[in-house]
Amino acid sequence: EYKRPIGLDIDLETGVIPGAKKLVRRLSDLKGYFLDEEAYNELLKEDPVVYEVYAIEQEEKEGDLNFATTVLYPGKVGKEFFFTKGHFHAKADRAEIYYGIKGKGGMLLQTPEGEAEWIPMGPGTVVYVPPYWAHRTVNTGNEPFIFLAIYPSDAGHDYGSIKEKGFSKIVIEEDGEVKVVDNPRWKE
Ligand code: 6PG
Ligand code: NI
Repeated sequence: EYKRPIGLDIDLETGVIPGAKKLVRRLSDLKGYFLDEEAYNELLKEDPVVYEVYAIEQEEKEGDLNFATTVLYPGKVGKEFFFTKGHFHAKADRAEIYYGIKGKGGMLLQTPEGEAEWIPMGPGTVVYVPPYWAHRTVNTGNEPFIFLAIYPSDAGHDYGSIKEKGFSKIVIEEDGEVKVVDNPRWKE
């Protein structure tokens, strides 16, 4: 009647978790997410994989935990770096922990009122995502950005409001530098 403990070795080079459920997100899954629509449509001809998720998930019960690695590939749409869709948790008060494994990037977090924060991440960086904060990761480097996420099994994902409104900040490359700037399309 007790569930069995799990011990697994994450491949720290590829981010693969053995036996995990794999999810692939291509550019075509991110329609409407990027600012530069012309650059988006141009790159859509190749429809590159933007990120992959390897998840070990339990039933959606209070008290249990899921964990997943994400492999976020390097790339840009116009000036904007590749990113994950970003979401609030369906149970909005569920928190989360991220741990950087490989590559370079960061996390955009945002309150329901649209207050955004940027936390740079690299191997060894731990990020605490507090209850109620939406979160999106961004690859600002030239190699895959890989990290582990640990989150309550009943957290769920609410993609709706981010898909519609985005984040109030965007992460771009300008003059060879990574910049976190106001999203010109953001509206309260
Ligand atoms: C989660 C985590 C994380 C996330 C992936 C992909 O709650 O499951 O935040 O595993 O889902 O990094 O990002 P998106 O879910 O925003 O596409
Ligand atoms: Ni999450």
